[in-house]
Amino acid sequence: MDKIVALCKRRGFIFQSSEIYGGLASTYDYGHYGVLLKSNVKAQWWRAVVQERDDMVALDAAILMHPRTWEASGHLEGFTDPLVQCLGDCKRRWREDHLREAAEAEGRAGEELRCPVCGGELSEPRNFNLMFETHMGPVQEEGSRVFLRPETAQGIFVNFKNVLQFARKRPPFGIAQVGKAFRNEITPGNFIFRTREFEQMEIEFFVAPAEAREWHERWMEERMRWYTELGLRPDHLQLREHGADELSHYSSATSDIEYLFPMGWSELEGIANRGDFDLSQHAQHSGEKLEYVDSGSGERYVPHVIEPSAGADRATLAFMVDAYDEEEVEGRQRVVLRLHPRLAPVKVAVLPLVNKDGQPERARAVYEALRGRMPAEYDAGGSIGKRYRRQDEIGTPWGVTIDHQTMENGTVTLRDRDSLEQSRLAIAEVGAELERRLAAPWSSPKLAG
Ligand code: GAP
Repeated sequence: MDKIVALCKRRGFIFQSSEIYGGLASTYDYGHYGVLLKSNVKAQWWRAVVQERDDMVALDAAILMHPRTWEASGHLEGFTDPLVQCLGDCKRRWREDHLREAAEAEGRAGEELRCPVCGGELSEPRNFNLMFETHMGPVQEEGSRVFLRPETAQGIFVNFKNVLQFARKRPPFGIAQVGKAFRNEITPGNFIFRTREFEQMEIEFFVAPAEAREWHERWMEERMRWYTELGLRPDHLQLREHGADELSHYSSATSDIEYLFPMGWSELEGIANRGDFDLSQHAQHSGEKLEYVDSGSGERYVPHVIEPSAGADRATLAFMVDAYDEEEVEGRQRVVLRLHPRLAPVKVAVLPLVNKDGQPERARAVYEALRGRMPAEYDAGGSIGKRYRRQDEIGTPWGVTIDHQTMENGTVTLRDRDSLEQSRLAIAEVGAELERRLAAPWSSPKLAG
């Protein structure tokens, strides 16, 4: 993880937030390449769940919602983690459930929990609500209290009726949304894995009650496929079913897609069968009927919900971790991000071999012709080796080099990031060749190793 963090800073993917003031704990800012990478992750998600299906519509609900939403959803009452504080020297705060899991994993189940840092005694656990609170309007009173949403899901449930009316959908159909969520996590950490402000990519998929189990299975397969098609190595992915004691208050069954992060297997996405909990709760609290009525048969029911809920930041981290590679080439160490080309922030770098003889002008013209077709970068600074290394570290899959031969016969060298193979082709063919490669299936070269 340290290497990923260092690369992110060195190459402008992700920075500590408010760094000039000493940084704000566990909050991060995305720089140029980080923005491009995360937006590619989100674009691939939209593509898979909306563009390539005809049973899903998009939504972008507000972050601030009516406070009664959180009464109905159960978050006001139950969105808590068990907080314990060290009563010894260090006074650190911990999640009791995390300490218990760690103790069990180390074969110390049943033993008294102590502070992992100073060994001090721990306080009795108390339920700590993770929702961030703020006030709407100029007066800070109980009636103006609102919350930053802790999940995007509730914005979908409260819009169920709108979508049913205007999108002309009937179950099985889904609503997809990407947006920020906020949780006052007790122990954030592991870089962008667990932060207090993060982005979710959530689907609420509404089905007839009898079909819920089948759709739960289908979505687990579908979501696993998405990660592997975008290059995550299958042996670093697993599905893990929640035990009864782990289930959220709304769920009858949940499976997590877990990735083998540097700190061990950890949740990437949860896929829950939420039953009719949410629609029934919101119907009861709002007085609106939230059900489906078949206009032909007159059949009516409250749809059940299957929820594939992913984190955009966590997915971005997993893709980076999976892509990170080091190798020795001709006696020199090379760091390379072997990202799926569709996720790579820049698809092609155009480089003049030398900064003279008309090569920079020719390279710029090639770059300007390419950038309308795909994200491209023109790079003329430093030795050619240094420029290749920079592009390897940001994961650019292809490099086009303009050299003296280009000036003679209009051909360029096309370099492949992973195989390091170089081929020669005419400038006029470059755009179409890169588009062909971008559309082709791809698997991680790390699989072979
Ligand atoms: N609506 C269901 C829900 O929010 P969750 O398992 O709490 O379920 C879903 O969150 C996903 O959101 C997680 O799998 C993870 O990818 C992401 N996520 C949750 N908390 C996060 C945090 N503190 N930092 C970064 N990502 C987080």
